[in-house]
Amino acid sequence: MIITIDGPAAAGKGTLSAKLAEKYGLAYFDTGMVYRAVGLQMLKDNIDLANVVEAEKRAENLTFPKMMELSHDKDFRSSAGGNAASIVSSYTGVRSRLLKMQQDFAKNPVFADGLPANGAIYDGRDTGTVICPHADVKFFITASSEVRAKRRYDEFIAKGMTADYAQVLADVKARDERDANRKDAPMKPADDAFILDTSEMGIKDVFDKAVEIIESKIK
Ligand code: DC
Repeated sequence: MIITIDGPAAAGKGTLSAKLAEKYGLAYFDTGMVYRAVGLQMLKDNIDLANVVEAEKRAENLTFPKMMELSHDKDFRSSAGGNAASIVSSYTGVRSRLLKMQQDFAKNPVFADGLPANGAIYDGRDTGTVICPHADVKFFITASSEVRAKRRYDEFIAKGMTADYAQVLADVKARDERDANRKDAPMKPADDAFILDTSEMGIKDVFDKAVEIIESKIK
């Protein structure tokens, strides 16, 4: 079974994905990681994020193990890391170079320890529209920008990072704007996606609703 969960930053995709992956024995691919891996290398190598050719080079050379190694860097999940990922993800040549790696995961989904899984759950912006257009169940998870900024702010604080709510909100809005309006694979719900607005829903409500939808689709 392949499930896709798309939507804007901090809408709750990761939390829902992890819970569904556990329930259904699915491997999890957080596809934002491929863009974070490229963006982080640009930041570390002091390359201007506007340099498309250099971003394409890093996308071309990215492997799954390399991405996992970069994910341990303290800046991988930072605001700057998310911003860099959003910028490089707007380049068509970067997206095309990272497409196969993302699609291959669905052919042979495995858990982190290498054991085979019952399928895969993808989280991102274009997983239901471009990466896995034939997924069994598709979701588009969203919430107001204020609610998402508050969730992201709380995450940063919980991790012991410093954060300023107004800045986090501005970042969330800037990323939404860029992710939704880029020319190639803009963030949008697939025509056959179930749209869930989590602004006023707790994690359990979102999970229960998603399970109800999955069960009705796979019956
Ligand atoms: O989900 P995230 O915050 O880790 O994603 C970082 C950026 O990567 C996001 O702002 C846009 C880009 N992205 C994308 O273009 N397509 C995806 N499937 C996932 C992420």
